[in-house]
Amino acid sequence: MEFDPQALSAVDDPYPIFDELRENHPVFHSAERGLWVVSRYEDVRTVLLDAETFASGMGTVPTGFVSAMPMMISQDPPYHTHLRGAVHQTFTPRRMRALEEFIRTTTRALLDAIDPEAEIDLFDALTDPLPVAVITELLGIGFEDRKQFSEYAGAVIHAVEGRGPTAEEGILWIYDYLENVLPERMERPGDDLVSRLLHPESGEPRLSHDEVVGFCALLLMAGTETTTNALGNAVVLLHENPEVRRLLGKEPEGFAKAVDEFLRLESPVPGLSRVTTRDVEMHGVMIPKDQRVHMLFAAANRDERAFPNAHTLDPGRNPNAHLAFSLGIHFCLGASLARAEMRIALDELIRRFPNFRVIPERWVRLRSDAARGFSFLPFVARPG
Ligand code: HEM
Repeated sequence: MEFDPQALSAVDDPYPIFDELRENHPVFHSAERGLWVVSRYEDVRTVLLDAETFASGMGTVPTGFVSAMPMMISQDPPYHTHLRGAVHQTFTPRRMRALEEFIRTTTRALLDAIDPEAEIDLFDALTDPLPVAVITELLGIGFEDRKQFSEYAGAVIHAVEGRGPTAEEGILWIYDYLENVLPERMERPGDDLVSRLLHPESGEPRLSHDEVVGFCALLLMAGTETTTNALGNAVVLLHENPEVRRLLGKEPEGFAKAVDEFLRLESPVPGLSRVTTRDVEMHGVMIPKDQRVHMLFAAANRDERAFPNAHTLDPGRNPNAHLAFSLGIHFCLGASLARAEMRIALDELIRRFPNFRVIPERWVRLRSDAARGFSFLPFVARPG
């Protein structure tokens, strides 16, 4: 048996392989990829909650990519604690309310532009532009550059068979863009997050110039493609489960729980890794120090030990302590924003087009080590 996260991300149904790993090889050593794969819910939790033994400083994607500017996602305590502590004001209730309003008006405008009779690409029409618009609004930077943002931010997350910019080119473009924005915000601060980070209130920790660039670049990467994939995966689940779509059409408040179930069942970040800081034994297997342990969230989220009827979509599932947003010190900083985007965008979509269809024969899945989603999602709003 071999394990290649990139090839598996492009398969419509990788779950039988994940089941096999979880049930029969709870610690699977992929010599070819240099990964020790853990896939049971409790084991993934154990790794996530022990940041001392399982470190992020060597990068969290299987290739070990680490950005040149400091980003909290690839830092360990105490530096991680400092970086995360300095941005706790990112999602204040006031900013969340304003962003929710922005999500709704932007979604409506994007849906207005869809030709309801034609076959369109929903990636291009909704799932890609919406998250980019939200993050650029949060940062207060140019939405007019969104095509480039999504191309370059996406490049860091997925290597699409040698097409488009490389991860290094992507991140350098983002740094360059931010380097141009910062001096202007330093001089003329606005009501946006970049200005706030550059001009903290008294008593708040001050980030260095490089730390602000690193944080904004991280938001552009971690906050865009992840949500794009979450939305695409959820639309497909709604297509495949018409009774759930009908139920949520009648009771839209059900989206509050349903979005977590979409994230559990089709996790947009199927796995991330850590590097061991000492020898560790798991299930009788000795994992030596300095080895990359890959946590398969997508398998853990379908572990029957944690989720009864784990392969079934249950929109009201409660409790639903899935790991799609990770856990512990690196728990997704943008989880509340991502949930709001999903809740609002999906609600608007099925209100407007309750009978939409996607076309599985022609969709194109991303090939990626760390993302599961679509780069082309053919969609008909009102099938004849
Ligand atoms: C459905 C969409 C999203 C998913 C599935 C997701 C998933 C994740 C995961 C799995 C991690 C943990 C990384 C780790 O443990 O190593 C993470 C971290 C992070 N996410 Fe998200 N994310 C989403 C949306 C967002 C959004 C919208 C933002 C920003 C507005 C964001 C910002 C971050 C940041 C800054 C971190 C780093 C936290 C830290 O290292 O302390 N994410 N996300």
